[in-house]
Amino acid sequence: MWHWLAATSYFWLLLTANTTNTTGFISVQPSLYWDGSDGLWSTFQVQIGRPAQVVRLLPGTSANAGNCYWVVIPQGCTEVNANVSDCADERGYTFSSNLSTSWSTERLANGGLFELDTYEEGQLGLTSNAYYGFDTVQLGLDGSGAPTLRDQLVAGFATNDFWLGSLGLSPVPFNFTSLDNRIPSTLSTLKNQSIINSTSWAYTAGAAYKDPPVFGSLTLGGYDAARYDANRTLSAVPFGSDFSRDFLIGIESITYDTLGSSPLLASEIYAFIDSMVTQMWLPIDVCEAFETAFNLTWNDTAELYLVSEEAHSSLLAQNPTTTFTLGTTSGSKTIAIQLPYAALDLNISTPYVDSTSRYFPLKRAENASQYTLGRVFLQEAYVIADYNRSVFQISQALFPSSDASQDLRPVTPPGVSGTGSTARARKGMHLDKGAIAGIVLGAIAMLLMFAPAVLVCVRKRRSGPSMVQAAGTKEEKDDDEVAELPPDERAQVEMSAEDSAVYEFDAHNQKPSELQASLGTLGKYELPGERYIAEIEGVPKTRVFELGGESIPAAELGTA
Ligand SMILES: *[C@@H]1O[C@H](CO)[C@@H](O)[C@H](O)[C@H]1NC(C)=O
Ligand SMILES: *[C@@H]1O[C@H](CO)[C@@H](O)[C@H](O)[C@H]1NC(C)=O
Ligand SMILES: *[C@@H]1O[C@H](CO)[C@@H](O)[C@H](O)[C@H]1NC(C)=O
Ligand SMILES: *[C@@H]1O[C@H](CO)[C@@H](O)[C@H](O)[C@H]1NC(C)=O
Ligand SMILES: *[C@@H]1O[C@H](CO)[C@@H](O)[C@H](O)[C@H]1NC(C)=O
Ligand SMILES: *[C@@H]1O[C@H](CO)[C@@H](O)[C@H](O)[C@H]1NC(C)=O
Ligand SMILES: *[C@@H]1O[C@H](CO)[C@@H](O)[C@H](O)[C@H]1NC(C)=O
Ligand SMILES: *[C@@H]1O[C@H](CO)[C@@H](O)[C@H](O)[C@H]1NC(C)=O
Ligand SMILES: *[C@@H]1O[C@H](CO)[C@@H](O)[C@H](O)[C@H]1NC(C)=O
Ligand SMILES: *[C@@H]1O[C@H](CO)[C@@H](O)[C@H](O)[C@H]1NC(C)=O
Ligand SMILES: *[C@@H]1O[C@H](CO)[C@@H](O)[C@H](O)[C@H]1NC(C)=O
Ligand SMILES: *[C@@H]1O[C@H](CO)[C@@H](O)[C@H](O)[C@H]1NC(C)=O
Repeated sequence: MWHWLAATSYFWLLLTANTTNTTGFISVQPSLYWDGSDGLWSTFQVQIGRPAQVVRLLPGTSANAGNCYWVVIPQGCTEVNANVSDCADERGYTFSSNLSTSWSTERLANGGLFELDTYEEGQLGLTSNAYYGFDTVQLGLDGSGAPTLRDQLVAGFATNDFWLGSLGLSPVPFNFTSLDNRIPSTLSTLKNQSIINSTSWAYTAGAAYKDPPVFGSLTLGGYDAARYDANRTLSAVPFGSDFSRDFLIGIESITYDTLGSSPLLASEIYAFIDSMVTQMWLPIDVCEAFETAFNLTWNDTAELYLVSEEAHSSLLAQNPTTTFTLGTTSGSKTIAIQLPYAALDLNISTPYVDSTSRYFPLKRAENASQYTLGRVFLQEAYVIADYNRSVFQISQALFPSSDASQDLRPVTPPGVSGTGSTARARKGMHLDKGAIAGIVLGAIAMLLMFAPAVLVCVRKRRSGPSMVQAAGTKEEKDDDEVAELPPDERAQVEMSAEDSAVYEFDAHNQKPSELQASLGTLGKYELPGERYIAEIEGVPKTRVFELGGESIPAAELGTA
């Protein structure tokens, strides 16, 4: 049966498609570094500018904040953190726009100085100004086969609210009030250039505490089926109704594995999954339950649960596994994501505390908009975001011992005619009976149509690239999807005109030289705006003459 199917698929592909070796997805290779001053995070190397400057970035899943590249500029190690030894390296290296000949701020008002679009993170007091500009970006090192994209939006920041820069994964375009056209994100650019076949990504943060440590995994346009447990998967979770809170998940309960213990959280809350935030932000009563259960003490000065060596020893002895039971509004299915204590046994250092200390990555949320599951949670969870269908999947992460066990598969957009769809695989190979029946019927129908060609094709299929097998179950599978995914209209809505208004920057982004007093808990590190402006002004002037080669139509030039 599967042979027939594969054979018909292959024949279908021959009929309709260019048989190139296009996979339709990219696996971004992790740097072999663990970076961070509030934990150990697996970063990804990105080259920015010409000549290329290599920076190590964290994937940014946030719909708003993740819509461009964020890089630390040299001021992030001179104006602030001047006494942090090896600061640039600690921050994943800095990017100097004045050393890049391809950098351009030509189209932007105010020398490109605007606020970072931290709609969600701002709820947690994380915000900053940044210098925006356009530059060439390569998603990986030379020789890795990583694509090079011109004219990508890059924001350079110095604040300590975010320690490392980020590689934005959002498909949401960026809208400068002073520009008519919206700036496509990297994910959209890759899709537009057909480097990836669907607007999707998959990510897990990696686990420095495993033995051996396992780096993060980032796939664009697809996912790595070896990195999650298909048996512990919540699939087709619809995006939150607020586009900024797409990865909104219900936490039904939080428990830990000490016999007879009461739950840490007993009634459902909704939390936003956001890789651009480190910690877990949970309601105060839940934090208090954690305090009691794990003997934690809130330090009001540091606004952290700092853990003394003594408390650490007893936590190690207790070695609790914390279980988050996740569900959705629509479905009754729930899954349990388990975090061993090792995942929560982190160190925090300067600039967040004076001297390095152990801490428990939990923060007190004051209201529901602050409920967040940060990167700490993504150490043990694998998320596949499918913007074509406006759904995501969350699973317990797996930690295969080597890259050799990668099982990369594409996420195919719905309704694609011709070369088919692989959302079948997206759901971890769990076809229900209806789906299998549909596929069999479809396969038989195609077999009857193309019977003479099939035997020949079977042989080809066996030696062909694996992506061929993945393709081609389109029509049948779309039926199957109706059962598990929201109606197709949801997916179509994604980039409609209706959404564009939401993406607009508020007028407040036009107040560039003002720095807010509320800039996080680390306001002392903020710089006066004037200094930034003075430093950036030289850039457009000196770069204007170097822009000639860029493909910026004159009509798009800002009036600034
Ligand atoms: C087929 O692939 C070749 C080589 O990659 C490419 O030049 C050509 O444009 C492709 N044709 C179509 C129709 O995609
Ligand atoms: C794709 O094909 C090109 C040329 O045909 C080859 O150089 C490249 O290595 C192939 N890539 C993969 C991933 O097979
Ligand atoms: C991705 O798209 C390209 C071009 O449209 C096509 O040749 C290829 O077969 C697609 N790959 C998959 C896995 O669908
Ligand atoms: C770094 O300098 C700041 C003031 O410039 C000071 O408050 C802080 O204690 C210093 N940190 C270290 C680790 O020396
Ligand atoms: C680039 O800017 C930095 C500070 O912003 C300055 O120290 C450096 O000299 C500049 N380099 C060039 C080549 O202008
Ligand atoms: C961008 O924002 C401005 C001001 O908010 C608005 O006038 C403009 O229409 C927006 N552009 C797009 C393409 O959405
Ligand atoms: C890519 O974007 C350009 C301009 O925005 C558009 O004209 C073109 O149709 C897009 N191509 C694809 C394949 O989406
Ligand atoms: C999932 O469940 C199946 C059947 O119960 C089992 O064979 C498989 O090993 C499980 N997979 C994992 C990753 O535990
Ligand atoms: C709270 O943290 C600060 C460092 O951030 C430390 O100096 C202080 O002693 C801590 N307070 C307590 C009660 O542990
Ligand atoms: C909790 O920790 C404090 C010091 O951090 C210690 O004195 C106390 O004995 C601990 N309590 C329990 C129940 O372990
Ligand atoms: C935290 O710091 C202690 C020393 O203070 C060290 O032994 C431990 O390995 C560190 N843990 C992590 C996760 O870096
Ligand atoms: C939630 O609390 C934070 C911190 O007090 C505040 O900044 C934010 O505006 C609040 N959000 C809402 C929706 O009340």
